[in-house]
Amino acid sequence: MTQDATTAPIECTAAPPGAVDTDVLIVPWFEGDGPQAVPGLDAALGGDLASALETKEFTGRPYEIYLARVVDPSWKARRVAFVGIGPSDKFSGDLARKCAGASGLSMKTRRVARAAFLVRAGDASRIDPAELGQAVAEGLTLCEFNNGQYKTGEAPPGASPAWTIAASGVPDGRMSAFSDAVRRGRLLGECSNLSRVLCNEPGNSLTPREFARRSGDIVAGNGLTFEVLDEKAIEQLGMGLLLGVARGSHEPPRLMVIRHEPAGAPPGPVLGLVGKGITFDTGGISIKSADGMERMKDDMAGGAAVVCAMRAISALNAPVRVIGVVPTTENMPGGRAIKPGDILTSAAGKTVEVINTDAEGRLILGDGLWYARKLGATHLVDIATLTGSIVVALGKLTSGLFGTPQPWVDVVRRVADRAGDRVWQMPTFEDYFDQIKSDIADLMNTGGRPAGSVTAALFLKEFAGGLPWAHLDIAGTAWLEEARPYMPKGPSGVAVRTLAELAFTSPEWV
Ligand code: BES
Ligand code: MN
Ligand code: ZN
Repeated sequence: MTQDATTAPIECTAAPPGAVDTDVLIVPWFEGDGPQAVPGLDAALGGDLASALETKEFTGRPYEIYLARVVDPSWKARRVAFVGIGPSDKFSGDLARKCAGASGLSMKTRRVARAAFLVRAGDASRIDPAELGQAVAEGLTLCEFNNGQYKTGEAPPGASPAWTIAASGVPDGRMSAFSDAVRRGRLLGECSNLSRVLCNEPGNSLTPREFARRSGDIVAGNGLTFEVLDEKAIEQLGMGLLLGVARGSHEPPRLMVIRHEPAGAPPGPVLGLVGKGITFDTGGISIKSADGMERMKDDMAGGAAVVCAMRAISALNAPVRVIGVVPTTENMPGGRAIKPGDILTSAAGKTVEVINTDAEGRLILGDGLWYARKLGATHLVDIATLTGSIVVALGKLTSGLFGTPQPWVDVVRRVADRAGDRVWQMPTFEDYFDQIKSDIADLMNTGGRPAGSVTAALFLKEFAGGLPWAHLDIAGTAWLEEARPYMPKGPSGVAVRTLAELAFTSPEWV
């Protein structure tokens, strides 16, 4: 099943609220705003807003939706949908993104044909108008994702409305920057949705070869170089960790390499993005329990994030060279599968004693990080649904961020905050390394239960070759078990925007 890679552009208009040509005008509303906060609005609604605020039928709490009919015949919109955005002192680009998403979902459910999101003058003075426009465009685009790809019985979910962003609050001189930002947000939202489609795909359809084929489609036509290494090429490179994980499967592994080399880019720095592409994780011989194992179809979410971020990086013409590396395989038990105690030799030369075959992500990423370095990356970021331990530590709202040196980790954190991918830094103290020292080989692939996400990160660090390196553990954030007001259950598209935006921050790199 596929989803169109590109969608209709979002219109931008500077028209005042009454002149916006749409069916439903979405108006973000601060908690505590009086009825006159948007001049003329309450009158156009025949006083409905004032009375809803008075009776507290609508208060402006985040994601609250209130619909009102327009009675002024001179207005083009026939209805107004208020969306609560909370107290004004807590407003942020991220809240704007989420509230745009929540109101968009509501428009979609109501099968509204055309909806316009109003950016108010007050909002645009609290946050840079371009940042706000981008965030709103991302939110409206993220809510277009449909996750019932394989349903046959039910009516398909309503097509998304045609969107407008009405920027009547943005000063004239900043309108063109605003429209550019809306286009950027649209594209980043689309790329996030492409990643969600891949993550939603079950293991029997998205095998490593199919993942590579679909990724080729996603990156095509954007000036990127796309290469897929097969099992023979992987063997020639000596990638014993990737081959070891793949041994139990009838499906052969692949290694995707995606290069963005814009004309005129300096030789360095070169960003290397490495994503975990396990298309299904049974655990291997250290097999997982049946409960919830179906979730392990999205164990390629890190790889999908890299592929889809590369599409955005190229479409938005990032000024630096970027290399994406995605090792992909299944992790299966079988007569030829690796066993606990087996020793694998990585392409980097380090030997690894496999203690638990379910700790497979760090194995394939070890070879992936080495290859990104070999291809010339100077700054590394890897991303993976790596450990259950990070879910225990941070839950489902926040990805774990690890890395060194600190200024490089800080760059990734700042970019992630702005992109709306919540992250929190975890420690990488060297003392933890003792937990993964092997008696017989250089490393063990697990360090026991304590600080499981930290020892996993320290394992990866061994393959970063001393380069600036950051690691995002998205095991808790790649998939939503519960719907949120701004996002349905299922794949979240986490980190696509962060990885893409990172390619635009090279002056800050260290
Ligand atoms: N893919 C899993 C991690 C995971 C857990 C992702 C939950 C999403 C939700 C990973 O390969 C894994 O199995 N990790 C093990 C490592 C352990 C054996 C050291 C884990 O975290 O339990
Ligand atoms: Mn595993
Ligand atoms: Zn896994």
